[in-house]
Amino acid sequence: MSNQLSPLNGAQLKSLQNLTTNLTKEQAIWLNGYIQGFSASTFASADPETSPATVERRTATPLTILYGTHTGRSEKIANEIHSEATTKNFESTLLAMDQYKPRNLKNEKNLLIIVSTHGEGEPPVMADDFHEFVTGKRAPKLTGLNFSVLALGDKSYKHFCQTGIDIQQALLKAGASEIAGLVKCDVDYQPDADQWKQEVFNNLKSEPVEELPTTSQDKSTGNETITYSRKNPYEATILDKVRITGRESDKEVYHLEISLENSGIKYEPGDSLGVIAQNPGTLVDEILSTLKDDGSESLDTHAGKISFREALLHHYEITILTRDLIEKYAEKTNHKEVKKLIKDDQKLETYLYGHDVLDLLNEFPSKITAVDFLKILRPLPPRLYSISSSQEAVGEEVHITVSKVLYENKGRQRLGACSGHLAEHKEVDDQILIYIEKNPNFRLPANGSPIIMVGAGTGIAPYRAFIQQREATGHKGKTWLFFGERRFSSDFLYQTEWQKYLKEGYLGKIDLAFSRDQKEKIYVQHKLQKQQKKIFKWLENDGVFYLCGDMKKMAKDVEATLLSIIEKQGGMTPERAKGYLKKLKKERRFQSDVY
Ligand SMILES: Cc1cc2nc3c(=O)[nH]c(=O)nc-3n(C[C@H](O)[C@H](O)[C@H](O)COP(=O)(O)OP(=O)(O)OC[C@H]3O[C@@H](n4cnc5c(N)ncnc54)[C@H](O)[C@@H]3O)c2cc1C
Ligand SMILES: Cc1cc2nc3c(=O)[nH]c(=O)nc-3n(C[C@H](O)[C@H](O)[C@H](O)COP(=O)(O)O)c2cc1C
Repeated sequence: MSNQLSPLNGAQLKSLQNLTTNLTKEQAIWLNGYIQGFSASTFASADPETSPATVERRTATPLTILYGTHTGRSEKIANEIHSEATTKNFESTLLAMDQYKPRNLKNEKNLLIIVSTHGEGEPPVMADDFHEFVTGKRAPKLTGLNFSVLALGDKSYKHFCQTGIDIQQALLKAGASEIAGLVKCDVDYQPDADQWKQEVFNNLKSEPVEELPTTSQDKSTGNETITYSRKNPYEATILDKVRITGRESDKEVYHLEISLENSGIKYEPGDSLGVIAQNPGTLVDEILSTLKDDGSESLDTHAGKISFREALLHHYEITILTRDLIEKYAEKTNHKEVKKLIKDDQKLETYLYGHDVLDLLNEFPSKITAVDFLKILRPLPPRLYSISSSQEAVGEEVHITVSKVLYENKGRQRLGACSGHLAEHKEVDDQILIYIEKNPNFRLPANGSPIIMVGAGTGIAPYRAFIQQREATGHKGKTWLFFGERRFSSDFLYQTEWQKYLKEGYLGKIDLAFSRDQKEKIYVQHKLQKQQKKIFKWLENDGVFYLCGDMKKMAKDVEATLLSIIEKQGGMTPERAKGYLKKLKKERRFQSDVY
């Protein structure tokens, strides 16, 4: 590195050289974003002539990229865009929404927002304040702002991409202009995200510059690094598969151990495993028979030219109904009853749960070709499973805890696409396609703070990973597990392991709630209530509260109980208690992994 033009002194230059030697591409991109974010916030009002960013890129078009994420996808996309913007000579600044002061919006010229939706149409925690500011009364006029929003979501949720929609509407209302229209991405987000990015760059003007060469090779070693992802999953072998609920349990939960040998795959406690699903063969047969189609016709699909049968078996979602699917079916078939169903929000909501594509074809029959039928279906998304192992403990393996979806409706048994396939058709030595889905917002505290782990059913999975990690690293902190299921005798997942951890001191306390072992129902929130004094004390002593498992019932009740605990034990008004919980979330001392 030449120091001829550098304003740094010798010691600073040396530090910089040390820091940048052997950086990977990903690290370099991150560092670039950090420095630009730092200089933007530190020198925002400084003399433009001496501001480092301005000196270097006097002519570059400014671009601010903000992301709001829970599971990391929006962040990944934002990183890619920032990297491309930098090579295209934009003065690009990349920031997480919780690192951004919304009052600075007035000073922005070009703004890109990549944000997901969580809960039931709510912003991810890190986007909370930004969302509240722009949609609230204090939002300033933003007539000088050009912006575009990429919204991530999932069409199986009622409030599809709501946070992105809210932000786009609020910015338009404030007088800002769109660089490109809002794009709403379903779970297979990459194609739409790429198209949005293309349109944004086409519409934004940047100073022409020689594009920097990019390469997927690790230059320092010359080695190709393979990154496994949902688009390029790893074919892994099942090492072990054990049912961990008793025979008399009405749930089938399996513990699976999967080999990662020589894959180079790394994960951390808190991450999830993405598993490529496969639809039940019997459901495919019944759909083909209802459509009076033998499934042999070769069709153009998002997965290439394949037979109709193959498409239904591996590449399109048929076990779940979404609003979008039903609306498309109504449009294609003009079926009066389906149109009526769409107009009745309550009825539609009820219909979506516990019905599949075959129900739709049987109950609202209409002539539809194979090509048109595939057009109403969405690509089959991989399913996520919270990883229940620590790599520090199990090395080149990954463990998951899978509850088989099996239910009966209208005289027909229905099997979940992924859990059903794993439970019924995959055995030891079989292969499955997997990848790691990072979850940076569900992590053990770095400082060894006390941890309270609350989970029901398979919600216990990441806590097994947490405690394995603590044992493997010899760390005995203050740990407390609240676990809930139906019956002690058949549903106490990983019972012997928890007992061992208790004995060894890696788990400090355990509270169990088995709802069906007595007359009255007892759930984890009741156990939390009983221990409220201690729980509040732990929180006051820098404790971290984790919540994992069912979103619809358990998570809501637990959060409501926690609020009442804060209110009562902290002597706070409901408003102050809400503020306390909000602060916990912001400080990552309330973390949730719910589904
Ligand atoms: C971050 C994350 C972590 C997760 N971790 C885990 C985990 O550790 N373990 C785990 O088992 N799962 C976990 N899940 C859930 C998992 O990803 C799948 O959603 C689940 O296995 C179901 O997928 P499937 O393909 O088997 O069923 P699908 O084919 O997706 O079928 C599910 C559908 O069946 C219907 N249905 C299900 N049960 C009933 C019922 N009783 N009555 C009527 N209708 C019903 C509903 O319409 C439901 O939408 C996690 C999800 C997320 C997002
Ligand atoms: C518990 C949970 C709740 C969700 N709620 C919604 C929702 O209400 N609306 C929606 O469109 N998507 C919803 N999603 C889907 C996410 O927005 C989607 O997975 C997105 O790709 C995540 O992006 P991120 O990794 O940047 O957070 C939800 C996902 C989870 C796990």
